[in-house]
Amino acid sequence: MQPSRVLIINGPNLNLLGIREKDIYGNLTLDDINNIIKENTKENNIYLDFFQSNYEGEIVTVIGESINKYSGIIINPGAYSHYSIAILDAIRGVNIPVIEVHLSNIYGREEYRRKSITAEGCIGVISGFGYYGYIMAIHALINNINKVIKP
Ligand code: DQA
Repeated sequence: MQPSRVLIINGPNLNLLGIREKDIYGNLTLDDINNIIKENTKENNIYLDFFQSNYEGEIVTVIGESINKYSGIIINPGAYSHYSIAILDAIRGVNIPVIEVHLSNIYGREEYRRKSITAEGCIGVISGFGYYGYIMAIHALINNINKVIKP
C-alpha cells in the first residue's frame, strides 16, 4: 500500500506553544509536538507535512492546494475555529477527510470557545487531550482512508 500523505495544519498563536498560557496548553513547543507526532506514527505508513500560519488566508490557500496532494488533513485552527467561515468553506471545498484537533477541551472553557464553525466541515473533532489528540487524529484518519478496522 502506498503511504498516505497527511497534512497537519496549526493556526494562529500555536507557534507560541511552550510560552503561551502554559497552564492550559502545557510546556511543549510546536516543534516538540511535531517531533512527538513523527516519532509515534513512524510505523503507520504515512508521510506527514506540517504547516503553521497566523493568517486565515494562508490557511485557506493551503487547504485548497491539498487537492490531489494529500489523502487527509488534521487541523487545529486555533481561534479561527470559532468564527472562520472561510476556513470552513475551504474544508468543505476540497473533498478530503479533515479532522479537527484542539489541545484544550473547548467545551469546558469560555462560552465563545464552545462552538466550532470549522468543525462543521470535518469528519470529527478531538478536543482536550493535548498533543496526544494529533496522534489519535492520525489513527482515526488512517482508519477513515484505508478502512483498517472493519465493522
Ligand atoms: C485551541 C483552542 C482555541 O479556542 C484557542 O483560540 C487556541 C487553541 C486549542 O488547541 O485548544 O488558539 O485551538
